[in-house]
Amino acid sequence: MSEPFRIGLLGHGTVGAAFAELVAERADAVERRVGRRPVLSGVLTRSRGDFDELLAGSDLICELMGGIDPARDYVLRALRAGRHVVTANKQLLSQHGEELWTTAAEHGVQLSFEAAVAGVVPVIRVLRESLAAAHVDRVHGIVNGTTNFILSEMARTGATYADALAQAQALGYAEADPSDDVGGKDAAAKMAILARLAFDAPVHLDDVPCEGIEHITADDLEYARELGLGLKLIGTAERIDGGLSVRVHPAFLYAGHPLASVSGSFNAVTVESAAITEITMSGPGAGGPQTASAVLGDVISAMIPPPMPPAPPQPMTIVRDVRSAFYLHMEVADRPGVLAQIAQVLGEHEISVKSVVQKGLGDNARLVMVVHPVLESRFEAARAHIAGLDFLRSAPRAIRVLDEEFI
Ligand SMILES: NC(=O)c1ccc[n+]([C@@H]2O[C@H](COP(=O)([O-])OP(=O)(O)OC[C@H]3O[C@@H](n4cnc5c(N)ncnc54)[C@H](OP(=O)(O)O)[C@@H]3O)[C@@H](O)[C@H]2O)c1
Repeated sequence: MSEPFRIGLLGHGTVGAAFAELVAERADAVERRVGRRPVLSGVLTRSRGDFDELLAGSDLICELMGGIDPARDYVLRALRAGRHVVTANKQLLSQHGEELWTTAAEHGVQLSFEAAVAGVVPVIRVLRESLAAAHVDRVHGIVNGTTNFILSEMARTGATYADALAQAQALGYAEADPSDDVGGKDAAAKMAILARLAFDAPVHLDDVPCEGIEHITADDLEYARELGLGLKLIGTAERIDGGLSVRVHPAFLYAGHPLASVSGSFNAVTVESAAITEITMSGPGAGGPQTASAVLGDVISAMIPPPMPPAPPQPMTIVRDVRSAFYLHMEVADRPGVLAQIAQVLGEHEISVKSVVQKGLGDNARLVMVVHPVLESRFEAARAHIAGLDFLRSAPRAIRVLDEEFI
């Protein structure tokens, strides 16, 4: 009989506890397929376990603690000691990934992280293996289940942002402190990791500007419905002018877009490349058992010799000012000449209008426009100009529109 494959587990919370159960449950099946039996060699939490002992008695370390410290130190020590590491920690990878990947390569061990992006959706494996030789042009993702649940509820029921967030918290889809999710930082970390893989270029969390969903109103979703659009928090990583842009923001999608139908807490990622056209993968983006399943998949891969070493990264210029179509929502005084003045300001900034809808009367008068793609900096300058016009009743709101040719 071959030796068991010993897994040292760091963290025994939502994912760690589910992983421990899954290993016990699936050990027979894994042994039949791989020829070795996975066993937990020990567990470390704040209150139990010793890292050095755990490391000495393990073939692989599963880091399911989260956070940067001490997770970074433990992962580095495990890699340097020649142990494979599996982690679900997107914050760690998006801020210290290069150091960790380099250390893994230097020591000839695997660092796997399928569960760090889009939970159980196997997007990391597809980018690393199936599409390893593809020239990827763009990756779009709904990579945060909390925000997708909130936006789906707002669209489905007409609820306000605050009510939909409260419901997400009551159902366990949002943390008590939801700021990383609703502010876009969680999605930004995942997009940094996806961009690193898709483009073989180092991308740090700081390279990913993000805008969250806190400012979205029920009104915006009502217009989306009227215009036949869906509203999602979208992560984008794409080649632009020889550089790379990675960003996260809410965006309108036309109804036929592959991400438009992804609702509730599901995640989805679309990969675009001339050779493959487009591939979309979707599924549960979080949850203990679901995430644990992705972690176990990585463990099984580590039990088998690696198919190829990871490619060294090639630095690329990070492009920050990109072109986008925009929806522009303005609460205005109900008087003649308002539309003409706004059109003039947009014209001065060389922004052309695709469509205009005038809504409400008196104190409820609003103008909703969709403008053709324009550099974001130019659009922001026009928005600031419009905000200063005396007939605006509140600051104009803007949301990007993807693929405006479809609306
Ligand atoms: N939850 C999900 O659905 C999900 C989905 C995808 C990825 N992830 C990622 O998976 C990781 C774990 O998430 P989780 O939801 O399972 O977290 P969690 O429920 O908060 O559990 C964290 C575990 O790590 C331990 N831990 C934390 N800091 C520690 C320290 N300094 N020293 C020793 N032990 C420490 C905790 O110990 P105590 O028990 O002693 O507090 C706890 O057992 C995170 O990186 C997260 O981003 C989670």
